[in-house]
Amino acid sequence: MTPNNQPIGLFDSGVGGLTVLREFERILPDESVLYFGDTARLPYGTRTPEEILAFVRDILDWMAARNVKMAVMACNTSSALALDIVRREYGFPVLGLIFPGARAAVKTGRRVGVIATPATASSGAYSQAMREICPEAQVWEVGCPDFVPIVEGDRIHDPATLATAREYLQPLLDRQIDTLVYGCTHYPHLSEVVRTIVGDRVTCIDPAVHLTRATVRELDLLGLHAAPSAHRPTQFFVSGKPSQFAELSSRWLGHRPGVERVRFAPPPEVAEVATVTEPAIEPAIERADRNDAYADRPLVNADE
Ligand code: DGL
Repeated sequence: MTPNNQPIGLFDSGVGGLTVLREFERILPDESVLYFGDTARLPYGTRTPEEILAFVRDILDWMAARNVKMAVMACNTSSALALDIVRREYGFPVLGLIFPGARAAVKTGRRVGVIATPATASSGAYSQAMREICPEAQVWEVGCPDFVPIVEGDRIHDPATLATAREYLQPLLDRQIDTLVYGCTHYPHLSEVVRTIVGDRVTCIDPAVHLTRATVRELDLLGLHAAPSAHRPTQFFVSGKPSQFAELSSRWLGHRPGVERVRFAPPPEVAEVATVTEPAIEPAIERADRNDAYADRPLVNADE
């Protein structure tokens, strides 16, 4: 089979996607990756479904212009709120984290806690996916609005971070969870802190590991693997300040990467938005309605 040496596009709002990139570099060393961090618009987790969908389309349009052979949402918030809609809109496969993470979680346990951004938690995407795969699983999702600013602000080792994490995790420990899903790609960066609190009796699931395995299967199935000789080092792009991303990401990459800035075209006038996007955002509006049902409930139990 002829190899396909075009890059895989991988994106997140910021440095969270590096936890996915780490798995890609381990399991798919022949593939070349184009990494995009939407740092000018993070955090995604407190955005509306319509905003997230628009940002995802900007990124995928840009990736399409760069000739990616596949796009991987290294962002749970995008996967939860936009994947079902955009996967039909592009001429290349688009993969996300929710199903691979949900499948791995219900293989491990039956009382599952999910820590995620407020947008992901209130979408109920993880609960829904786990319920589809394993109806007897009990799932509780907790929105953790402070975690992404902590990671992006380089405050992981501050004493206050431990206190914040305890606050988010205690309701899940009270439910006696046996499994905890990192439902945001930024959170494995906090794994030391989380482990201190949950101990060894809870199995932690990083969906990045399972998304990477799903990517291998997809590349197999579609015959899209690259030739080893064609590998190029990961190229990094951000919408915000390249130097800031380079500095922070060097903690996990072990070197300071070269980073380029991407500027998206400004959004069209409001009147134009209404005409152009009306049919396409319908599913997002449905999801917004579903979110309202969860609005006042920090703990979302799939069984309730
Ligand atoms: N890391 C992303 C996620 O997995 C987005 C976090 C954010 O920007 O709020 O959800």
